[in-house]
Amino acid sequence: MRFKVVIGDVKQFDGDAIIVSIFEEEPLQSAAAEVDAALEGAISALRESGEITGKLNEVTVLYTLGKLPAQRVAVVGLGKREELELDRIRQAAAVSSQRLRKAKARRLASVVHGAGLGSIEPEQAAQAVVEGTLLGLYEFRTYKTEDEEDHSEVEELVLIEREKTKQAALERGVEVGQITAEATNLVRDLVNTPANDLTPTKLAQRAQEIAATVGLECEVLGREQMAELGLNLLLGVAQGSAEEPQFIILRYRGGPEDEPALGLVGKAITFDSGGLSLKSGESMESMKDDMAGGAAILGAMQAIAKLHLPLNVTALIPATENLPSGTAQRPGDIRRALNGKTVEILSTDAEGRLILADALAYAEQMGLAPIIDLATLTGSCFVALGNVCCGGFSPDEKLLDRLVAVGRQAGEKIWPLPLFEEYREQIKSDNADLKNIGGKGGGACTAAKFLQEFVGEDTPWVHLDIAGVVMRDKAQHYYPKGATGFGVRTLVNYAISQAKRVRG
Ligand code: BES
Ligand code: MN
Ligand code: ZN
Repeated sequence: MRFKVVIGDVKQFDGDAIIVSIFEEEPLQSAAAEVDAALEGAISALRESGEITGKLNEVTVLYTLGKLPAQRVAVVGLGKREELELDRIRQAAAVSSQRLRKAKARRLASVVHGAGLGSIEPEQAAQAVVEGTLLGLYEFRTYKTEDEEDHSEVEELVLIEREKTKQAALERGVEVGQITAEATNLVRDLVNTPANDLTPTKLAQRAQEIAATVGLECEVLGREQMAELGLNLLLGVAQGSAEEPQFIILRYRGGPEDEPALGLVGKAITFDSGGLSLKSGESMESMKDDMAGGAAILGAMQAIAKLHLPLNVTALIPATENLPSGTAQRPGDIRRALNGKTVEILSTDAEGRLILADALAYAEQMGLAPIIDLATLTGSCFVALGNVCCGGFSPDEKLLDRLVAVGRQAGEKIWPLPLFEEYREQIKSDNADLKNIGGKGGGACTAAKFLQEFVGEDTPWVHLDIAGVVMRDKAQHYYPKGATGFGVRTLVNYAISQAKRVRG
């Protein structure tokens, strides 16, 4: 899909449809008012009859019947003006473009909802419109043999703005929005792809392809190299599967050579059966999504490279299946992690923390800082927070606050959860330094506490437990049913803010 910014009058657009927005409980303004006048009061009439209210995400399509060059006008509600925030702009862009796609419109123009209103910068607003549109129009059709009869695609969105002074900012916003949303949709594709087609090897191949396309360094370690390094916990999880595990390392160098790289670590269990601690059939159904953390890291790296951000970033993605077999690890096995600590594996289904332990210790060895990890780590995080927000853990309150803030901008909510010392008691083992399950209660916290054992005390680190937010069972505004691509936009925003911070 193409995007462009045009300075001019939205009424002059001669494509299939134009999108204007209105607020709840106030008179029509700017573009909506002008379009209303051109349509001889058609919008205000519907408004008076109560059919159009301006409520958030309400979309009404009107035919222009020759009164304007474009055939249709979509009027989308933004809700109350004082409640406007970036995420509402994203949502409104999504629902209006979805509605117009249904009407077979291909070439759309839109005003930049909210640009310059309150604290919303034109650049951010343009970014949100583009993100909402691309995210909202996403469909996973890889395995659909036949096109749906009425299938139609939007080809172009033109953002129209009257003021020339805003052009450069809007263009930058469009670029950032397109890069971020495309990266998010890439992640959605990876997460939606079934485990038979997305093995660790295939994921590594995709990483190599992406790296070659956008200019990242990519190194992939196989079983032997992992054994040489001592990534024993990862190898333990992998030993039940016939598929070779892959440790994917991506490097982006945009900053000075001597500056420590931001470390991104993502869990990539391409299928989690639980191993010998086998899951029930029902809870196994969705476990192709257990690589969503790793996929989000890969998507973020693609976006960071395309944006040429001036900072260094290294991504570590441990990838393996977790399957039961005659060679699988057993409950009770004890293995030594890369950082020397021994772990008693009491449940082979608590495998995420095992592969992350080695990856975090490796990130630490590489001197990465800060380190941010994303993992579909615990069902208990889903139980606690649902699909509304992910859990965020960090001993560094300021760093976590920053992530929460950039996440909010991105429309991805992070809720802080504790790493209290008491949780450590729950993961002490009788037979080894640690055990990989923390017993009843506080499952997300004991898992995070376990990870903390593998990060240096002085290394700033944040763990995001994204188990609840990577899949949705219902479509809603810019979320389709299925994979959400959660994490990409937060990480990209964080990298942008980090680059600004260091280089002003
Ligand atoms: N991949 C799962 C976590 C998960 C569960 C993600 C549900 C999404 C939805 C993880 O590997 C796991 O199995 N965790 C166990 C840990 C337990 C054995 C301590 C869990 O949460 O049940
Ligand atoms: Mn598991
Ligand atoms: Zn898992």
